[in-house]
Amino acid sequence: MPPSRTFPDGFAWGAATASYQIEGAVDADGRGPSIWDVFSHTPGRIRDGSTGDVACDHYHRWAADLDLAAQLGLDAYRFSIAWPRVIPDGDGDVNVRGLDFYDRLVDGLLERGIRPVATLYHWDLPQALEDRGGWAERSAADAFARYAQAVVDRLGDRVPQWITLNEPWVSAFVGYASGRHAPGRTNLRDALLASHHLLLAHARVMPILRTTEARVGVTLNVSHVLPLTDSPADRDAAELADEQVNGWFADPILRGSYPDRMAAWYGSLLDGIVRHGDLEAIHAPIDFIGLNYYVRTHVRAVRGDASSSDPMDVLPYRAELPDGVPTTAMGWPVEPDGLRDFLIAFSASHPHVPILITENGSAWDDTVAADGSVDDPERTAYLESHLVAVHEAIAAGVDVRGYFAWSLLDNFEWAEGYAKRFGIVHVDYPTQRRTPKASARRYAEIVAANAV
Ligand code: FCB
Repeated sequence: MPPSRTFPDGFAWGAATASYQIEGAVDADGRGPSIWDVFSHTPGRIRDGSTGDVACDHYHRWAADLDLAAQLGLDAYRFSIAWPRVIPDGDGDVNVRGLDFYDRLVDGLLERGIRPVATLYHWDLPQALEDRGGWAERSAADAFARYAQAVVDRLGDRVPQWITLNEPWVSAFVGYASGRHAPGRTNLRDALLASHHLLLAHARVMPILRTTEARVGVTLNVSHVLPLTDSPADRDAAELADEQVNGWFADPILRGSYPDRMAAWYGSLLDGIVRHGDLEAIHAPIDFIGLNYYVRTHVRAVRGDASSSDPMDVLPYRAELPDGVPTTAMGWPVEPDGLRDFLIAFSASHPHVPILITENGSAWDDTVAADGSVDDPERTAYLESHLVAVHEAIAAGVDVRGYFAWSLLDNFEWAEGYAKRFGIVHVDYPTQRRTPKASARRYAEIVAANAV
């Protein structure tokens, strides 16, 4: 047995979910359609042809789900609020019944001694706003501020921690350029507009959240980017990829500027997007940065392909898996050292911002045994090895304050539908029965011991 690694006092142990992935009840209590409703109902968009219409039916089963979180001993629970429940048409009337749901959820967490960590935007833009241009329109940031104000008016007295956006990089580049996520556009200029307007949306809601006592941050997807080979071309490509993947949102927020090389590379595609004063507002201090970490990315230099159906292929690099690296059911490499190395590098570049790991986890082809149990040794090993990596980063001086497993429940994994299971709790979709997997039991032990 390796020595047990104890985490600092007060380290927060949590699990994360997102509204569209678990709630279902898409027509309940005045909710309006989001871009993910429209996208998932479009044939060919979701691998298994599924939608989030029912998902985990968490909208009706939230109390039992919070009981599960309490049984695991979690300190904190990260969830997202669905904008189309709160303002069904994006910037019109506030729907009180939508807010009622989150009111019950927040109280339910507090009653169970679990800290609510609320994300304002985890990808479910009201479709009515997309019909008016979506995130490619600057006015989307103003609509977001109105929505945030309505949420804060109702929940601001009880939510101690807010996250403005989840993975704006994915919203912008996968939603508006690659088109693999809602709204499914394939236009790089739109993606760059969307990325700036998402940053602006973050900036616009910061002063609103600052009227509360809460700690406020943003969650970014990050990856440890390495050159595939030691060639100067691959090393150069990896530097650019690092700016695109890890710098495009972190640098404006934490430094007040877009990363130089990447911005120069985009050149005239960025014309007219950034207005006077935007970057100062985007650079407002945050209390923590949320990092979602899943994979290391190995990058090879290529000639950009402007004729590809994916506009992102115009970039002069590709991710490629080196031989012999084990992969999850998503085909994602399992390389926990990448998390440690990324955290050390990130905190060297941004030394004063505390870090929360707001997502980390893995999908595997789980099997349910005859007795109903789910033994998932790969997920348990992924969890343990990544927690060891976090502990090593802390030992090296990185200020990591907490860890949220993705995900509490198996759920609607976006373009993959229900085929990919990330939960530490198994969901049998036909019956909606929940079964904690072996990984959940192991996680509960780690949480109780504050050690891995
Ligand atoms: C992240 C998303 C989250 C989940 C995981 C697997 O990019 O934030 O909703 O889908 O990936």
